[in-house]
Amino acid sequence: MERVLVVGAGNIGGAMARGLATAGVEVLLYNRSAGRLAAFEGVDGIAMRTTALPEALSARPSLILVCVEGCAVDAMLAAVAPAADTAVIGSCAAASTLDNMAAALGERGRTARLLRVLPNIADTCGAGVNLIASRGLADGDLVHIEHLLTPTGVCVPIDESLFGAAMSLSSCGLAYVFRYVRACTEAAVQLGIDPATAVRLTAATLGGAAAMLADGAHPEVLVDRVTTPGGLTIKGLNAMEKAGFSAAVMAGIIASTPAR
Ligand SMILES: NC(=O)c1ccc[n+]([C@@H]2O[C@H](COP(=O)([O-])OP(=O)(O)OC[C@H]3O[C@@H](n4cnc5c(N)ncnc54)[C@H](OP(=O)(O)O)[C@@H]3O)[C@@H](O)[C@H]2O)c1
Repeated sequence: MERVLVVGAGNIGGAMARGLATAGVEVLLYNRSAGRLAAFEGVDGIAMRTTALPEALSARPSLILVCVEGCAVDAMLAAVAPAADTAVIGSCAAASTLDNMAAALGERGRTARLLRVLPNIADTCGAGVNLIASRGLADGDLVHIEHLLTPTGVCVPIDESLFGAAMSLSSCGLAYVFRYVRACTEAAVQLGIDPATAVRLTAATLGGAAAMLADGAHPEVLVDRVTTPGGLTIKGLNAMEKAGFSAAVMAGIIASTPAR
């Protein structure tokens, strides 16, 4: 059976641990302090919860995912480096690059099989996006790891130079979508709909839009299908554009992409 060590039981580490456990993977969960581990008591598939990293490493995981706060990533990578001969070493930290990871592993960084994963918090409900880049992994290993991570969300292999832009869409993008939902709700409340119903309607509409886009349709083709000439939707779209809707979204995505 596959055995994965998740280092850090916070939002992202916890989501990864739960998603992997759901997929039938044997999960070892390490956290620096005991507090966060309590929430994983009795979770099926979580075979070990420990504050002792050597204990987790001695179980010989085949994949290690470091999911700790950015400032602690290098130290945790250095701590798991002895396992690099037998395990793929992964980091979910936004700030990690494959080069940084290799450097943090020291001598072993030159030959280690490295995986960079950038999840978003929708991984907590199995509907996340995992951006993936790797070094030293055989194609078959990468396909296998994507398969392992799929219960947490879709895996999108991407050139590392585009990680920042992709992260702006998928990680920051969740906040932008939530802000859209809030704006819809505020308008709906003014029109007499209660907030809970407005959020439900908007979320269901987003779900429908996502499902329609999943087939690869161009968004503007789908807009045309909703927009009757002379109808209400075109009035709404034109009012939104006049208020700067598309320009605001593009400015936000570009502003939240880190400079290369
Ligand atoms: N949240 C997101 O949407 C998101 C998206 C993509 C990537 N990430 C990345 O995921 C990583 C974790 O983020 P998060 O949102 O899961 O944070 P979080 O919920 O605050 O959890 C932080 C984790 O880091 C551990 N930690 C902090 N300082 C440490 C240290 N000095 N030594 C060892 N462990 C330490 C914490 O352990 P304790 O419980 O002992 O404090 C905890 O397990 C970050 O690197 C972030 O860039 C987050």
